[in-house]
Amino acid sequence: MLWKVILLLMLALPTLALDNGLMRTPPMGWMSWGRFRCNTDCRNDPKNCISEALFVDMADRLVEDGWLKLGYKYLIIDDCWSFMSRDNKGRLMPDPIRFPNGIHKLAHYAHDRKLKLGIHANMGKQTCAGYPGTMLDQIETDAQTFADWEVDMLKFDGCYSNVNEQQKGFPLMSKALNATGRPIAYSCSWPMYRGGLPPSVNYSFLGEICNLWRNYDDIEDSWESVMRIVDWFFQNQADLQSVSGPGHWNDPDMLIIGNFGLNMEQSQAQMALWAIMAAPLIMSNDLRTLTGEARSILQNKAVIAINQDPLGIQGRRILQDEGHIEVFWRPLSKSASALVFLSRRTDMPYRYHSTLSLLNYTSSSYTAYDVFKDETVSLPSVNTHFTITINPSGVVMWYVYPDKSFEQTKETGGHPNFQRKYAHASQQRPKHNLAPILL
Ligand SMILES: *[C@@H]1O[C@H](CO)[C@@H](O)[C@H](O)[C@H]1NC(C)=O
Ligand SMILES: *[C@@H]1O[C@H](CO)[C@@H](O)[C@H](O)[C@H]1NC(C)=O
Ligand SMILES: *[C@@H]1O[C@H](CO)[C@@H](O)[C@H](O)[C@H]1NC(C)=O
Repeated sequence: MLWKVILLLMLALPTLALDNGLMRTPPMGWMSWGRFRCNTDCRNDPKNCISEALFVDMADRLVEDGWLKLGYKYLIIDDCWSFMSRDNKGRLMPDPIRFPNGIHKLAHYAHDRKLKLGIHANMGKQTCAGYPGTMLDQIETDAQTFADWEVDMLKFDGCYSNVNEQQKGFPLMSKALNATGRPIAYSCSWPMYRGGLPPSVNYSFLGEICNLWRNYDDIEDSWESVMRIVDWFFQNQADLQSVSGPGHWNDPDMLIIGNFGLNMEQSQAQMALWAIMAAPLIMSNDLRTLTGEARSILQNKAVIAINQDPLGIQGRRILQDEGHIEVFWRPLSKSASALVFLSRRTDMPYRYHSTLSLLNYTSSSYTAYDVFKDETVSLPSVNTHFTITINPSGVVMWYVYPDKSFEQTKETGGHPNFQRKYAHASQQRPKHNLAPILL
């Protein structure tokens, strides 16, 4: 069965990837769109409009409330930041009333606090919200403008452009960003405008020019929207799972935890499934008013460590049970793995019985760490029966590791967050305990 593991690893590591050295693990941060959209009414809603003040507030929260320490370092300006026309040299410029000190100053503010600044632009005549877009002959100018402002990431959208313009524009922007000499992470919304699947989308090519890409619809503030995205990604996992990896990620869109559409069970489910997908953890919420519960889910160190696993292999759905329970699995470094049990039921907490062998785990002895309950479950054999209780529209998430690999040295390697609990864990890959083999 070793060959299957190797095959899986090879599939997950395309030969070529965008060579800017950025985003070796899925990016983490905060973005304005999901929560603040295109609210430009600073006169009547000064605290919530797209403005310098909003990004300064979020920068402060990211730093002072412990987000940055956990890896949430990108502060990303989405659509609606710019003035309605370009300046007299043809360059994009920010709205002077809402961004009185300009984007360069904001980048400094972010950098002084060890954050990275992201910005939004759009391949096409205008942005989705009607602000100036980037036509083919403006790509180099705009890339240089962002570099001059010391921006660290560009989200390049694709409204109001046709197939041919996108075919030319998205690769051209990648080249233009590279030519500035400044490492700027590049997020491409291209596949989303082409249906998200091969053959219309060439993911090998995308991996060579972009660090991440939006494949599918925008997320909305509802459980239904989260489930629609989850369904699409896992129904298409045969096409999508292998195209993701260090430096080039599928992006199922923002985390909406902390807004209005998800209860706590559903919030845990979004966090857990995004970790299984090796998805960017880009929140869009109001960090100034987040509840303690939302914060504890978004700041769960074990889930973050699973999301950030250095192998960067996207997980898959391995089971859809008749009882409306689904099981998701992601292989992790150090022969560990993550399992998520999701309940699609709407009746009551469901007691789910299984064994690891039913989930195709092969080696003999494991420990499972329940990341939301902060408890461990010992599974001395793959045939050991276990029962877990999964709440309606909720999850149970396990970090599963083979016992043998935890007997050797005192180091933990890629999972610093498990250090406290598993101080005896090994950094070496055990010779006989391979990652569970699943199809
Ligand atoms: C530009 O591309 C080259 C070749 O892929 C790469 O080595 C270099 O690091 C890139 N530079 C930037 C600034 O992205
Ligand atoms: C997809 O892109 C890769 C890498 O650039 C290229 O080698 C391949 O020919 C492309 N496939 C198709 C069907 O165009
Ligand atoms: C386990 O492996 C068998 C045989 O390859 C396969 O039919 C089954 O779907 C797998 N089960 C899971 C849960 O992956």
